[in-house]
Amino acid sequence: MQMRREVMNKPADTAVAAHLPAQGVTQQPAQGVPQQPAQGVTQQPAYGDEARFYDRRTGAFQSYRRAIVKALPVRPGEVVLDVGCGTGLCCGFLLEKVGPQGGVVGIEESPEMAAMARERIAHEGWRNVTVVQSGAEDAQIAVTADAALFCAVHDILQSPDALRNVLDHLRPGARVAAGGGKWAAPWMVPVNLQARVLHAPFVRSFEGFDRPWNHLEQLIEDVHVREVAFGSGFILTGRRRRPPRSASPAVAGRGRVAPRPHQAGVRSVPPLPDSTDQHASSRALANNCGALMQAP
Ligand SMILES: C[S@@+](CC[C@H](N)C(=O)[O-])C[C@H]1O[C@@H](n2cnc3c(N)ncnc32)[C@H](O)[C@@H]1O
Repeated sequence: MQMRREVMNKPADTAVAAHLPAQGVTQQPAQGVPQQPAQGVTQQPAYGDEARFYDRRTGAFQSYRRAIVKALPVRPGEVVLDVGCGTGLCCGFLLEKVGPQGGVVGIEESPEMAAMARERIAHEGWRNVTVVQSGAEDAQIAVTADAALFCAVHDILQSPDALRNVLDHLRPGARVAAGGGKWAAPWMVPVNLQARVLHAPFVRSFEGFDRPWNHLEQLIEDVHVREVAFGSGFILTGRRRRPPRSASPAVAGRGRVAPRPHQAGVRSVPPLPDSTDQHASSRALANNCGALMQAP
């Protein structure tokens, strides 16, 4: 089964959030200037022309989003990746958990959805939330995070490349939560009909919809899955695999941990600058995350 998205001739300027190791800077596209999606990637209208209707179309599911975030055990001061963050409907819930000293890094491939998430960030005045506009498969993420959220992102869960890239940017033992739609038992015909109508605008394909966490569970440990909504939804929790005790630090981090600024021992970090300044915001977030990662 070939799940990899075809990303052909990706223009250089879509390599957003390129990490500049010397400074720990995350580059973002200028605000209000959406980048084009990578060529060869089909984007659903729901995330393109119809993106402005997304909140209205899916706002009714805020309690489900809250439940998925609730399942993610993150602490104040930690950094969470919101993978496929869309318009940022989970960000507020995540911020309630990580607090002002923590951070949220959204990863979102649709320029329209990312632009709306940035509008939300500016409107809410969230100084510790930033959005990397890129496919999760090749997003350049400037932090090593403590947790990752996959909320209603079936297409991403079906992409082993996206999952690997995200997990490479989590510390060993980092928490993971995922939730979204799935097929109920085959005899639940009305439930499955409803699920198909509900999810069709938001998935590229229903492949893997019987067990959406199939790929993810191969990359994480301590996996627990709870079915909800008569089996037409799920909430999964787990954690990034920790290396065996004997492994060297290079192996422990799989040699892919993003470089950190030299702020060892710093636990308390200053608030991030105004999120309307995407460069400063993401730079400060990267610095703060690095400081938090290095604390004993
Ligand atoms: C149903 S929406 C969920 C958005 C948000 N998590 C929520 O709870 O409302 C799925 C989002 O995943 C994004 N997405 C799909 N494939 C992606 C990929 N490969 N990399 C990054 N984002 C992706 C879509 O653009 C869309 O915004």
